[in-house]
Amino acid sequence: MIPRFKPDIGWAEFKALFCLNRGAVEKFEKEFAQTFQAVDAVAFPYGRSAQWAFLNAVGVKGSEIIMPAYTCSVVAHAVSLSDNTPRFIDINLDDYNMNLDEVEAAINKNTRAIIATHTFGYPQDLDRLEAMVQRAEARHGHKIWLMQDCCHAFGAEWKGRMIGTSGDVAVYAFNISKVITSIFGGMLTFQDQALANKVRAWRDAHYKPANWLKAIQRRLYLLAVYVAFNEKIYGLTWWLQEKTPLLNRFTKAYHLDDQIHFPPDYLDKMLDVEAAVGLKQLKKYPRIIQCRRDKARYYDQNLPRHEGWVFPPIVEGATYSHYTVRVPDRAEVIQDYAKKGVHLGELIQYSIADLECYSKLNSSCPLAHETCLSTVNFSVTVK
Ligand SMILES: Cc1ncc(COP(=O)(O)O)c(C=O)c1O
Repeated sequence: MIPRFKPDIGWAEFKALFCLNRGAVEKFEKEFAQTFQAVDAVAFPYGRSAQWAFLNAVGVKGSEIIMPAYTCSVVAHAVSLSDNTPRFIDINLDDYNMNLDEVEAAINKNTRAIIATHTFGYPQDLDRLEAMVQRAEARHGHKIWLMQDCCHAFGAEWKGRMIGTSGDVAVYAFNISKVITSIFGGMLTFQDQALANKVRAWRDAHYKPANWLKAIQRRLYLLAVYVAFNEKIYGLTWWLQEKTPLLNRFTKAYHLDDQIHFPPDYLDKMLDVEAAVGLKQLKKYPRIIQCRRDKARYYDQNLPRHEGWVFPPIVEGATYSHYTVRVPDRAEVIQDYAKKGVHLGELIQYSIADLECYSKLNSSCPLAHETCLSTVNFSVTVK
């Protein structure tokens, strides 16, 4: 069966699992910063932990943080767990990004940060976003932090400039479903060395080295992932995931969508072995991105145009973390493709504004709601 995604891992990454890898985290930070055109980069155990740490390090508390309703729920959890309140913004149906008219209207005197996600690898309009933040800072007389969420969009470009290279900070995540993986892990990148130093110092004061057991578990996890995502075995993985609770410990526990919750190890530093895998993946990154762009173009030209299907745009500079089609009857389409040996994803299958744990905010994001019920993702990773 063709998996809905497949991490591009092989001998290079396996070799990294069995080396000492001393100093790999610092090396990964340095090479990551170079690759993604930043002055510096600071590593974390998860992307959400990086977002949480940034808000704490710069002292954003008790404020409203603008973010899309249609993104990974853990972003909202990072906002809430740092004692802030998410302000959910609806999306555009053409590229799934946050609607910037609504962002502008939502900025108020309590807004201290905006998290701008480049959803599914589609670049946000950075010119408009940056001008909007500048105007709002002048109007309200205080800093409004701009965090670009690049977790779906490694290396995407807006009008020829790489996303994440402006604003105050950019965040990247490296779990196995991301463009490149470091098993788990996250990274913040900065254009301002003083700010990077401040966040690194905060991390070093609050995060502790992970223990040896976790280092072993991470190695075993990557080996298991390699086996589980092999096309010859994936039918069994799919069956175990769909029909039994056996894999929940490895999959669902990491994403408790409707609970404001972080994994217990969110204050561990990134492991050297994770960084060593990340370093190997960085070398493959141009090829991985090219594969995604080629796949998106292939689907655009070759998928059957069934009635009611809405195809995603092919956009200059996009890197397609997902190829997302809206369909009238998602369950039926997923079942039909499963019978043909193709697993379609259903990301993102919720609007955060609708989740019970955020119901007291009474947010209404109708387009995010409509979208989350109808999306299927075609794999952009299998060659
Ligand atoms: C858009 C986006 N932002 C942030 C994150 C957080 O990353 P992590 O799962 O490493 O905490 C994710 C994770 O899946 C994501 O998709």
